[in-house]
Amino acid sequence: MSISTPLTVPDAILLRRSVKSFKPDPIPPEILDQLVALTLAAPSSFNVQPWRIVLVEDPKQKEALAEVSWKQKQVAQAPVVFVFAVDLKAWAKTFPATIAEARRLDAWPERAADYFAKAVPDFHTGLRNSGLDREYAMKDALIAATHTALAAESLGLGSCYMNGWSEEGVKKVIGAADNPDIAIALLLPVGYPAEVPKFSGRLAPEVTVFKNRLG
Ligand SMILES: Cc1cc2nc3c(=O)[nH]c(=O)nc-3n(C[C@H](O)[C@H](O)[C@H](O)COP(=O)(O)O)c2cc1C
Repeated sequence: MSISTPLTVPDAILLRRSVKSFKPDPIPPEILDQLVALTLAAPSSFNVQPWRIVLVEDPKQKEALAEVSWKQKQVAQAPVVFVFAVDLKAWAKTFPATIAEARRLDAWPERAADYFAKAVPDFHTGLRNSGLDREYAMKDALIAATHTALAAESLGLGSCYMNGWSEEGVKKVIGAADNPDIAIALLLPVGYPAEVPKFSGRLAPEVTVFKNRLG
């Protein structure tokens, strides 16, 4: 993967803003490929990778997404909208492939791989029974989305984290209306900013950061 003149991580973090209007310019395919590769490099709990990311580029699909996203115009304007969905049964469906890959790469010792093959499905069955499976999958997807947003900034693009949408509506647009295993974590329109909003400030660290104990 080659990246030409990317911003450093600190610069990308500090310069990123929530872009509300995009130019119509398309994202070159090689840049979009880099963005996807950097997104998929994100960590996840037990490396389960529950995200199922739909890149919405078709104008009609984007209009339909905007319609179920409080009509927010950045959804229809951006050349690509990353829809971060999660499969709540990824641990059953694709974890065997994850274990096989870790074995192939000699990344997990044989005994650890054997242990995870049983322990991870057991753990997720427990999460499902206690209603926490959605929360766990969401954490992973949001970390992946953060990779996308910072990588986009680094590569000269802009993005906007979004939770202003109806889950039912988004599922319908991406063709997952009848799939109870699929939940939606976040929408992230990505493209070249038409305008970059001003920095809106942050609370002082005295208010939000503590040492050793809260308060
Ligand atoms: C989880 C999340 C959901 C958000 N949802 C929306 C949204 O639906 N529409 C929108 O215009 N901005 C949305 N934002 C952007 C925030 O309003 C923005 O991050 C915040 O005001 C700080 O501005 P900045 O991102 O430009 O620094 C969202 C941000 C986050 C992190």
